[in-house]
Amino acid sequence: MPRTREHTDFGFRRVPLEHKQALVDDVFHSVASRYDLMNDLMSGGLHRAWKDALVTAVNPPRARPAPAQEAKASARPFALLDLAGGTGDIAFRVLEAGGGTRATVVDINADMLAVGRARAAGRGLDDAITFVEGNAEALPLPDRSYDAVTIAFGIRNVPRIAAALTEAYRVLRIGGRFLCLEFSTIDVPGLAALYDFYSFNVIPALGRAVTDDAEAYRYLVESIRRFPRPDAFAEMMRAAGFARVSFQRMSGGIVALHSGWRL
Ligand SMILES: C[S@@+](CC[C@H](N)C(=O)[O-])C[C@H]1O[C@@H](n2cnc3c(N)ncnc32)[C@H](O)[C@@H]1O
Repeated sequence: MPRTREHTDFGFRRVPLEHKQALVDDVFHSVASRYDLMNDLMSGGLHRAWKDALVTAVNPPRARPAPAQEAKASARPFALLDLAGGTGDIAFRVLEAGGGTRATVVDINADMLAVGRARAAGRGLDDAITFVEGNAEALPLPDRSYDAVTIAFGIRNVPRIAAALTEAYRVLRIGGRFLCLEFSTIDVPGLAALYDFYSFNVIPALGRAVTDDAEAYRYLVESIRRFPRPDAFAEMMRAAGFARVSFQRMSGGIVALHSGWRL
């Protein structure tokens, strides 16, 4: 019997599943050095508010006065794992919000991580963050080792989303929370047409002007259209084992913040 090859979406193109990662990697190699600037330009700074909502949900413990000696011995820092963490934005925000947090940033792209490492050094946060080159589908990390696992604007780029969710669940401690910030489906009448116009015309043009790569930004907007609706993604999270799964739409549905717990 002939074997049917598994295919998936790379933006609006159908590609063999095993080809997608290399195509995604090319996109982020190309834009790494201007990635953060483009985020501000494309979203008019809104990505900062969306990321703040994610950090509030992570709720890292605030810095406390030095504990007594015996408590100190048993205290362990709050451990954050930021998947597809790229240039480190989420990890920096969580570290700056909570005292004594340790962060691990995993990303498959060495160029994005190099920008992240330089930014961490510039902020004096390099002692609190470990940058790991790795695939969210097969994490080189032990079971049950993190209090929170986050992924922001990353999951739609991962070819095997179900595998990444299973891995996120595996490395979470019991009682830990998974939070995923991702572009979503517009739920405000009238906004969809405006958003489509902006996405397909303005963003690629901006990408060309700033990174000299319109195609990379065309992929980014197309991939948003191919990402599952929030209720379907919530179902995938339940299938991976997460409990108390919920999501919150923001900015008219432009993005959604998904949450699930390992209980
Ligand atoms: C849109 S960027 C998001 C970066 C960062 N989380 C942020 O919010 O600014 C997507 C990131 O996903 C990473 N990525 C794509 N596929 C991945 C995979 N299979 N495993 C880990 N990271 C991946 C890319 O290298 C890129 O850095």
